Amino acid sequence: MQGPASRAWWRSAVIYQIYPRSFADGNGDGVGDLEGIVGRLEYLAWLGIEAVWISPFYPSPMKDFGYDVADFCDVDPIFGDLGTFDRLVEEAHRLGIRVLVDLVPNHSSDQHPWFIESCSSRDNPKRDWYIWRDSPPDRPPNNWIGAFLGRPAWTWHAATGQWYLHLFLPEQPDLNWANPQVEEAMHDVVRFWLDRGADGFRIDVAHAIGKDPALPDSPPELVLDPRASVHDDPATHPLLRRLRAMVQTYPQNPVLVGEVHLVDTVKIGEYYGNDDELHLAFNFPALYADWTAEAWKKQLADADAVFGPVDAWPTWVLSNHDEPRHRTRYGSEERARAAAVLLLTLRGTPFIYAGEELGLEDAVIPPERKVDPGNRDGCRAPIPWDPSADHGWGPDPWLPFPPEPETRNMESLKEDPESILHLYRRLLKLRRETPALNLGSFKVLESPEGTLLYQRELGGDRIFVLVNFSDAEVSFGDGRASGVQILVSTYGAGSGGEGNIDLVPASGAVVFRSAAQPGKPA
Ligand code: NOJ
Repeated sequence: MQGPASRAWWRSAVIYQIYPRSFADGNGDGVGDLEGIVGRLEYLAWLGIEAVWISPFYPSPMKDFGYDVADFCDVDPIFGDLGTFDRLVEEAHRLGIRVLVDLVPNHSSDQHPWFIESCSSRDNPKRDWYIWRDSPPDRPPNNWIGAFLGRPAWTWHAATGQWYLHLFLPEQPDLNWANPQVEEAMHDVVRFWLDRGADGFRIDVAHAIGKDPALPDSPPELVLDPRASVHDDPATHPLLRRLRAMVQTYPQNPVLVGEVHLVDTVKIGEYYGNDDELHLAFNFPALYADWTAEAWKKQLADADAVFGPVDAWPTWVLSNHDEPRHRTRYGSEERARAAAVLLLTLRGTPFIYAGEELGLEDAVIPPERKVDPGNRDGCRAPIPWDPSADHGWGPDPWLPFPPEPETRNMESLKEDPESILHLYRRLLKLRRETPALNLGSFKVLESPEGTLLYQRELGGDRIFVLVNFSDAEVSFGDGRASGVQILVSTYGAGSGGEGNIDLVPASGAVVFRSAAQPGKPA
């Protein structure tokens, strides 16, 4: 593992998201746990992963499957205990894998002792730790709608005659970061995990922790749009600056990755501050982009315009625990393979959602097995580890498996050198060993219709990537590509050898080295 000397280790690392309920089951109870993760760290090291982000494993009533936190400094018994966490960190570090914890600063569970105290009376010292407002019992204080249920983001508390705010479920009351005690308490939480060896945090709803104290109505057309910028308030920026200043005092150079759930790359860029807020923020517009060359060219141009001039570092993410998997959205394994090439060769930190390296699709969830209020069960299906009847889980996993677990499981794909799993592994190795690919400059070049061609360059080493988004074979060559060295391709022929690129099949992608530039700047 690169040591503390490498301050910006997160620029070249690839980060792998683990949703702990669904990753690996260490005790056979059908719900994944920290012991399960420990048991699969060798696999992640084999794959070439350099950092993991683990979604919440805190004590929780699980109304939002862990994003409703009842204690920010402990582990829910269903996932293990603090001793298991410590072992996980130790073992991960031994294997060169850093560990990011999911910090949930915007809200707690309604079962958190802070909220229970806050509810106890209007003059309780913790009353102001949450966001309480006066308004008649039949009229919420503003028009905000909470995520998931389509109902007001406010719940009436009859015992004390006020409303409390929750941007998500009623069981997830929003903390009041305008109160310095809340900020201090959350800094203590951050120190708690850094002192235990965590290497950073993915920050839930990072853009919404600061709020305009007037809590003004949203424009009516934005009220129901969960991705609208309605909760993007300037009050958040000083909070992030102080958090960044605090974590920077730690020797492990922790990274702060924000979930800035906005659909405007310019807005997302603002949360990097002047290199004094988030180190990284998810660039969700790319996740929502269609699988077409035009849509991706726009994403790349937008990212270049926002991040390029200020030397901020973009991120790329195609799947996570909140959205249908990109294998499902894009519609075929061929496209998922081409997407892997794209994800792992762009300029910026890529995030892999556990299971995408197996080409997993979302599971089909029968109505009687649906459990998530946000309808996100499909992408949270358990990872099939082997071809056995229970695929490495207990007899009764909490959700059904994704399609074809008998063949589409880690062990079976590991035996097939042509599988998507080996493609991910080859790409990760190439990225690690090729400075131009992880830290080099980035330039889009002219290329045939329906394709995207770009160049990465560092210290004279020029790597090119051609992705064919179209459903037709694309001829690529014309002498310009002579003498190229193909480094990785999604299709068998030529991969790893020397030669021309004559045809790139439908939904194919190729990474190659060439002394000559095979296309003009676009
Ligand atoms: C974003 C998380 O990714 C999602 O899973 C969760 O439901 C909300 N934040 C609320 O914490």
